[in-house]
Amino acid sequence: MEDSFKHIFLIGMMGSGKSSVGMTLSQKLNLPHIDTDEDLMDILNLDMNQIFETFNEERFHALESTYFIEHIKNNKYIYSTGGGIILNSQNRSTMNKFGKTILLKSSISNLYNRLKQDTKNIRPLFKKNNTKKNLQKIWNDREKYYTECADYIIKVDNKSINEISNEIIKKLN
Ligand code: S3P
Repeated sequence: MEDSFKHIFLIGMMGSGKSSVGMTLSQKLNLPHIDTDEDLMDILNLDMNQIFETFNEERFHALESTYFIEHIKNNKYIYSTGGGIILNSQNRSTMNKFGKTILLKSSISNLYNRLKQDTKNIRPLFKKNNTKKNLQKIWNDREKYYTECADYIIKVDNKSINEISNEIIKKLN
């Protein structure tokens, strides 16, 4: 894999598979992996719903951004980012400057099915309104940021984590 860039950033909607793909890529490329949501939950010792209740959505994203901008100063990492990381313009320019950004793009129906099934990690934005309509609205509001940020767009519907990871590695080569 060419070494001219520093980090690999996985972006996309909640439920698009960023965490699983990040872990698989980490094994395949022998690079360390960071899941920004997991890290923030560990640091704060709260689950994501408690974080949203304690800080609210806007303050969570501010915290996420501070953590992210600081963390990327480290060695080369694969980042599985939170779905809202692209909302902040500094995060977007940082990703463009310091790595390759990959958008995992899923249909709304698949996101909906995945999020409904994931009872261990109930996303606050889905808990508040667990409808396809809500997911569609979030996507519509964010699509321009996701696509503006992405060096590569990978369609993930009906593909295994392994297939998606191999496709990413091919793009990066
Ligand atoms: C969010 C997505 C979540 C998490 C938080 C907010 C969002 O991450 O950061 O619930 O604004 O889309 P995942 O995309 O990893 O679920």
